[in-house]
Amino acid sequence: MGELERLEAEVTQCTRCLLHRGRTRAVPGEGPGDAEVMFVGEGPGFHEDQEGRPFVGPAGQYLDELLTGIGLTRGDVYITNVIKCRPPGNRDPLPEEVTACEPFLDRQIALIQPAVVVTLGRFSMARAFPKARISEVHGEPRKINGIVYYPMYHPAAALHRPSLRPIVEADMGQLPQVIQRAPHLPDSEPPPRAEQLELF
Ligand code: URA
Repeated sequence: MGELERLEAEVTQCTRCLLHRGRTRAVPGEGPGDAEVMFVGEGPGFHEDQEGRPFVGPAGQYLDELLTGIGLTRGDVYITNVIKCRPPGNRDPLPEEVTACEPFLDRQIALIQPAVVVTLGRFSMARAFPKARISEVHGEPRKINGIVYYPMYHPAAALHRPSLRPIVEADMGQLPQVIQRAPHLPDSEPPPRAEQLELF
């Protein structure tokens, strides 16, 4: 068993926060260990909790369509979440849950070393773009410690607000270029305007 598989197995046994008590299954993430692109959502919903796999519900079907649109499949990318267990009633993750789960995502990124981490939604975005507004930074890649973070709206947000769909689709349409240019992007400072804004 490789290091990534060991980490995924560890997640399935995790009791670091109270979410483990209500879960059906933890959702570590899935995809090739050498994926060039990693997608990081918020946390498992109902379907993911049942199956133990990320993005298998309606948002996942939309993500699949978006991937198909740029010539990729799920098998080409690594897909995971900020938190690995479903919060009750799909509520937002609590700061202590994010903190408890953070080492798993840190290790996944360190092991996979993707060229690009696509953050889906504001909780995932907050790692790389603290206090930023997604409406202001979506579609703008930024390199931090050698990894390019590319913030996008969450696919579920676009399902609930159809006016976001063209934005999500345009941002996904740019992803192949972002991947191609990732090695050449310089490490960046946080965008000053976004830094002043509060996320929560
Ligand atoms: N939404 C997420 O953020 N992650 C999933 O895995 C599914 C839906």
